[in-house]
Amino acid sequence: MSATLTDKYPNYSPGLEGVIAGISTISEIDSDRSSLQYRGYDVHDLAESGSFEETAYLLIFGKLPNQAELDGFKKTLSSEREVPEAVYTALKALPKDAHPMDAIRTGFSVLAPFDPDYEAVATDDAANLRKAVRIIAKAGTMVANGHRIRQGLEPIKPNPAHNTAENFLHLMTGQEPNAKTVEVMDASLTLYAEHGFNASTFACRVTVATLSDLYSGIVTGIGTLRGPLHGGANEEAMKMLLDIDQPANAQAWIDDALEGKKKIMGFGHREYKKRDSRAIYLTKVAKELGIEKGDTRFGDIADILEHTMESRKNIFPNVDFPAAYAYYLLGIPIDLYTPIFVIARVSGWSAHAIEQLRNNRLIRPKAIYEGAANLEFPPLADR
Ligand code: CMC
Repeated sequence: MSATLTDKYPNYSPGLEGVIAGISTISEIDSDRSSLQYRGYDVHDLAESGSFEETAYLLIFGKLPNQAELDGFKKTLSSEREVPEAVYTALKALPKDAHPMDAIRTGFSVLAPFDPDYEAVATDDAANLRKAVRIIAKAGTMVANGHRIRQGLEPIKPNPAHNTAENFLHLMTGQEPNAKTVEVMDASLTLYAEHGFNASTFACRVTVATLSDLYSGIVTGIGTLRGPLHGGANEEAMKMLLDIDQPANAQAWIDDALEGKKKIMGFGHREYKKRDSRAIYLTKVAKELGIEKGDTRFGDIADILEHTMESRKNIFPNVDFPAAYAYYLLGIPIDLYTPIFVIARVSGWSAHAIEQLRNNRLIRPKAIYEGAANLEFPPLADR
């Protein structure tokens, strides 16, 4: 905050930076240690040795599942993957060039009244848990089949044997995904699942705190995630990497960009002043993928950008930077990157919505009024 604003309004923090807006047991960011824990477990361990399903269960139900619980959870997810035809009818009505974030936001709006717990009151905890599981099960189906629809293809049915990552990849391509692609997708879903009081999660909590429903919270979250300062950064980061094209162009590109005071997408974070814990692991995965695919150019460009950003600005890559070139190497269309973030983050949003509703109070901050006051109301003819 500028010195004048601080002096004038000591209780005001632009962008709510540093403001404590709730108490949560879902995740903790430790900026100094570059660490992120979901309910006490390090995300690296979950991404490396766990699965998105274990992560989603942990976030929603508050504990890691044992084998029987995990089997049951996967079975429920499989049985809930399909979506009503009305969702596809709505997606077919969208312009073909609609962004897939608009499609998934629309998809969830159409889906809401079809939920078997539609009539449940907002504070019905058991109903919210059931809704959360359905939301997690169906998000990938809607993104992938929405992608088919905009290409003029028909939606295809989920395979009950598939996990969340496999389901998305299978529906998107119409083919059985290979093991490495599933592994990278699964790890990225785990890393994208939850991140404290970020913009979309906070927006989701604000919505449900009015005792609106969980689906409305999810729709709010999607709308908030879409922007390039939040989830949309992964798409912008990839466009930037493609613009740079070759490692030989990278130094001049970043020098120019910094000279022109440009924001470098996929870098910086409100909470991490050192490295983004999620980016550390995903960079390793993305670089290994590049070596495996025989295309290391984005990893090489990334090294130059990262080195320059660190030495000149002390700013580090965030999760969206390695996610961008990992997804590109997997052959995923760029405008599906933020919708993939949605497939993962519906678990975090749902966990937060449920937490909010268990101990709810309407979220209603104040603003400092600096506008005109006490004016005479002039007749229309005099204005
Ligand atoms: N490139 C260049 N300069 C930057 C960047 C960047 N990516 N990020 C921050 N800065 C500079 C900024 O110009 C400002 O400098 P100065 O004080 O000289 O004006 C200073 O750092 C503080 O920046 P800010 O925008 O006020 O910081 P913030 O805490 O409000 O913003 C941010 C955090 C994520 C919006 C910002 O770093 C940014 O815009 N990054 C690019 C977009 C991006 O990658 N977003 C994805 C975030 S991680 C995924 C997610 O969970 O959403």
